This record gives sequence, C-alpha cells and structure tokens, in this order.
Amino acid sequence: MKVLVVGSGGREHALALKLLQSPSVTEVIVSPGNAGTQSLLAPTPGKTLRSSTEAPLALAQRERVDLVVVGPEVPLCEGLVDELTAAGVLAYGPSKLAAELEGSKAFMKGFAARHGIPTARHVVVTQASELDALVKTFDVPPVVKADGLCSGKGVVVAETHEEALRAAREMLSGARFGAAGATVVLEERLFGNEASIHAICDGERYVLLHAAQDHKRIFDRDEGPNTGGMGTYAPAPVVTPKVMREFEELVLVPTLRGMAAEGRPFKGTLFAGIMVTPDEHVRLIEFNVRFGDPETQVLLATLEGDLAQTLAAAARGALDPTSLSASGEHAVCVVLAAQGYPDAPRKGDVIDGLGDAAKVPGVVVIHAGTALDQFGNVVTAGGRVLGITGRGKTLKEAHTRAYQAVHKLGFSGMQYRRDIGGRAGLTLLSE
Ligand code: AMP
Ligand code: GLY
Repeated sequence: MKVLVVGSGGREHALALKLLQSPSVTEVIVSPGNAGTQSLLAPTPGKTLRSSTEAPLALAQRERVDLVVVGPEVPLCEGLVDELTAAGVLAYGPSKLAAELEGSKAFMKGFAARHGIPTARHVVVTQASELDALVKTFDVPPVVKADGLCSGKGVVVAETHEEALRAAREMLSGARFGAAGATVVLEERLFGNEASIHAICDGERYVLLHAAQDHKRIFDRDEGPNTGGMGTYAPAPVVTPKVMREFEELVLVPTLRGMAAEGRPFKGTLFAGIMVTPDEHVRLIEFNVRFGDPETQVLLATLEGDLAQTLAAAARGALDPTSLSASGEHAVCVVLAAQGYPDAPRKGDVIDGLGDAAKVPGVVVIHAGTALDQFGNVVTAGGRVLGITGRGKTLKEAHTRAYQAVHKLGFSGMQYRRDIGGRAGLTLLSE
C-alpha cells in the first residue's frame, strides 16, 4: 500500500510512522508534512517516507495512492474526503456533513439533545440584544463558545457573568473570530476531570482506543494561556472501565446510530472530550472529528495491530472491531514549544540533540513545527515544535524516558511542561 497523510503536525508524523510499521505499507507521503516526514530523515529500512506540497487530490491521483488519511479538521470540514471519494480515491475521515460534529458547536449540541446524549445544558445565540437575558439564566457563569472552527481558541471559560457577556459580545461582533463567531453557544459549566476518548469508526462499527489526558495550558500546574496541547499521556486512570462502558453506551453508540439516522454516517476518528464528574459519570464536552494532537502520539505508541489495514477497512465501511488492541504499555508525550508560543511563536531556531534524543530506549521523537533550512539544519517552524514520546511498562517509566530525551534537546527559547502525566495523580515533576 501507498498511503497519503494530509497535514503537517505531530499527529501526521506519528500517523506516518505507525502506518510505515504496517507490513502491507511500502510508502507514506505526507502533504505538506514537516522536517520529520522528509525522505532525508526516513526511519524504516526498505520503506519510503517523504513530504510533498502538491494538493492532496492531484497528488493521490498522480501517485495512485491506495489510501488517504486526512489529519486536520479544516480540510475535513471543507469536504476533502467527499472530494477524494467522488474521484474514486479511498479516504479515511468523515464527510463534510459528518464533520459538522466538530465544525459547528450548535449542530453538535442540538444533535446531543436530539439523541439524549449527556452533555451540558446550552442555548444558541445569534443576536447581541438577547445576550443579557440569556446569560442570566445560568446560575454559574456559562462557558462561551464560538460556533465555528477557531483552532481551539473559540472557548472562554468565564469566571463571572460579566466576563461571559463580554466574550459573547465580542464573538458576535465578528471582531474576534469573524464568521465562526456569528453564532455563539452559551453552556452550563461542568466540573470534574477531563479526558479524551478516541474511536476509529466505519459508520456503524468502531474500535475504541485508550483514554488519554491532554495538558492544555502552557505552564506547569495548568497555569497560563490555553494552547493546542502541551503534552499527553495514556492510558488515563480517570477513565475507569465503568466510565468507559458508560461512554460507549450513552455517547458513542447513540452518536453512531444518530448520525446514520440523520443521513450523516460517521466514518473516521471520533474524538470525544469528556468530563468525568465527581460521582463518576460521563458528560460530553465536545466532539472532534479527527485524531487529537498530541493525543495521537501516545495512543499510537500503545497500540498493537495493523493501522493501515484498519483505517482502509473503516474507510470502506468494513471495520473489524478486533483489528487493533492496546499493548498494555503506558506512554507520555512532552511537547517542546517555540519561544513566544502560543501568541507569536518564533521561527528559524536551530534544534540541537535530535540524534541523541532518538537513541533513548523506548522514545520516539515526533516532529510538528519543524523545517529544514538551506544548510540542512532542522529548525523551528511553528508553535509546537516536537513531541517527545516515551513508552514504558509503567507511567513512571514512560515519563522518565520521555524526559531523559527532552533533556538532550535544545533550541533557543524552548518551552515545555515538567509535569506531563501528573494528572494521573502521581507526583511526576521532571527537574
Ligand atoms: P474546546 O476548545 O471545545 O476543546 O474547549 C476548550 C476547553 O474548554 C475544554 O478542554 C474544557 O477545558 C473547557 N470547556 C469547554 N466546555 C466546558 C464546559 N461546559 N464546562 C467546563 N469546561 C468546559
Ligand atoms: N489536543 C487537543 C486537540 O487535538 O484538539
């Protein structure tokens, strides 16, 4: 098989490396990719990994690829999978209609309400004149969400009713998120422990992966501004077998049935952000319609089975739910971010220590915002630069290995959290 992965982040590099492990895969092309996906750095003997900047459809046709895996939400919400499918190319990911679960928070909340999926109470607002009265209907200040895609920045967890009102007004005015904020969702604030659960779906059947936890704030102890994710670990003990069963019964199965019934069968990765309440029940916070980044890095590190065959079968609507299983290991991914991230990441800083970091046992160095400069140096080229993923028999071992590798890496202004994995309740603070 020749596989095309669409995207340029850590998620796509991790997918490419896992796909290359499939016995049936000979070549992976990543469009546009990063320094890690360039042939220069290809890891697997006898197999090819390379980047291409050609547009996905033209590339897939010219290269006669057997499968396209679309990474990010934007091309999914724009209908890339529909376009590929119409051209006869096998593509893994949801259709434009199914991608609305992430592309429109108002659609997602309405869908959950129609199908009795447990989630926070919400109201949809389009008129600034209605805001005052609607905000007051929430006892605790509501969470304010722009309806459309905002690269993870469209949610304000307000501490006061005034802050909620201000955030919602700003969204509706178009000043902050343009058209994505023309509709706003006000939502009851949930309390508890957050977790990420991914399922690979074929419209009907699914493979459920480990639960993971992200660390969204830039600084240790969850301080500072929100980011795309500074690190993850899996499995997350907060998702007990009981919580996982409740998720399957009350969220996943009704979602797949409901989407099929509404004429939008869901094929692809359904990634649910959930709140595990203090009394151990599941409330859905949000859906994403793709693999998480950096959740993918830890999920794939602890997965056994042939990913390429599984994704191809899901795309064809013929998934074998037993085709992938958890390895029983633990993984920790520590993100190294650029100077100035998340506001204004600096580009062009030379990265040192890549070779030494990759030699740490059980560690994979995943590239995200990296590029090769004219001298062949790997340099920073985005906010999140690298994801250092350690595997181990225990969380502690995975954590130790990941940070051993982190300490071999360096670039000017490098930022990372020292407490990834700490949400599992262990005291894990790298020095
Ligand atoms: P999102 O961009 O949708 O992932 O939301 C960003 C973050 O906002 C989530 O990871 C949660 O931490 C928080 N959040 C969203 N909705 C709620 C809610 N209803 N209650 C509490 N926190 C929320
Ligand atoms: N790490 C969160 C996300 O991919 O949306």
